[in-house]
Amino acid sequence: MADVFQPGLLRGQHAIITGAGSGINQHIAERFAAQGAAVSIVGRNLERAEAAAATIVARGGQARGHSADVRDFDALARAFAQAVADHGPVDICIAGAAGNFVSDAASMSSNGFRTVIDIDLVGTFNTFRAVLPMLNPEESHLLAISAVQSGMPTAAQAHVCAAKAGIDMLVRTLSIEWAGRGIRCNGIAPGPVADTEGMNRLAPGGSASWDRLLQGIPLQRAGRRDEIADLALFLCSGAARYIHGTVIAIDGGQSNLGSLPFGAMLLESASAR
Ligand code: COA
Repeated sequence: MADVFQPGLLRGQHAIITGAGSGINQHIAERFAAQGAAVSIVGRNLERAEAAAATIVARGGQARGHSADVRDFDALARAFAQAVADHGPVDICIAGAAGNFVSDAASMSSNGFRTVIDIDLVGTFNTFRAVLPMLNPEESHLLAISAVQSGMPTAAQAHVCAAKAGIDMLVRTLSIEWAGRGIRCNGIAPGPVADTEGMNRLAPGGSASWDRLLQGIPLQRAGRRDEIADLALFLCSGAARYIHGTVIAIDGGQSNLGSLPFGAMLLESASAR
């Protein structure tokens, strides 16, 4: 398919992306680098972050991997400071790091619930708060990777639903507080995306649960990583300059059908463990 975006759309810009050592966020990093951005990849696992950066560099892009756990504010701030030393003030920051597991709430410990809140919600706050003094003061964009669960209560996902709903409200609140600093702030709420660690945990491709999952999606297929990257690129580009403080679903219409097929499937798989 032809690229609908102008080549070099992000030339001269510096994008920091957390959780970009794999999955959707890695794909976004590759897409942004292909459009000319210098990309700082931040992940818990330094080897994975460096490998993701090396792939970009091998294709002629600019990238470097950094290690930090988004639950650790000081580690994030240190990683971001290194990134700024490499590529200058930050034009785009994407909070993509997330954690998930399938468990009904009655079987989940308090620490299990808190772990996902800490990675997803507190991690998103930490990312945006740590990068705040390092943003390009003229204009910048913050993008949170939420999920369809933020507005679609889903069985066996109480921790994720709560965390992602919090992320959506964080995006909306920061859009009010930080607009005066030249910051646009938005979110993306993907539904199931094929070939990602998160999806492999919920419903491995080709399994019976994968087929059940597709029944709950009007478009009858999972999303693709390049489709999520396209939306991220659009939102972080000048073409979206009047889009602010919103979280856009990209889910093949899944949230309109509701979570019953998906949630029932997850409950079954949780109780089978
Ligand atoms: N069911 C129920 N509870 C679970 C669980 C599961 N499948 N997996 C982990 N937990 C609980 C643990 O039991 C622990 O609680 P406890 O101390 O009361 O026993 C708590 O969650 C923390 O687990 P731990 O493994 O110590 O956390 P971690 O920080 O090493 O890992 C996770 C975080 C659990 C989110 C892990 O799945 C992870 O690292 N995920 C990252 C990758 C990922 O999820 N990608 C998909 C993104 S959508």
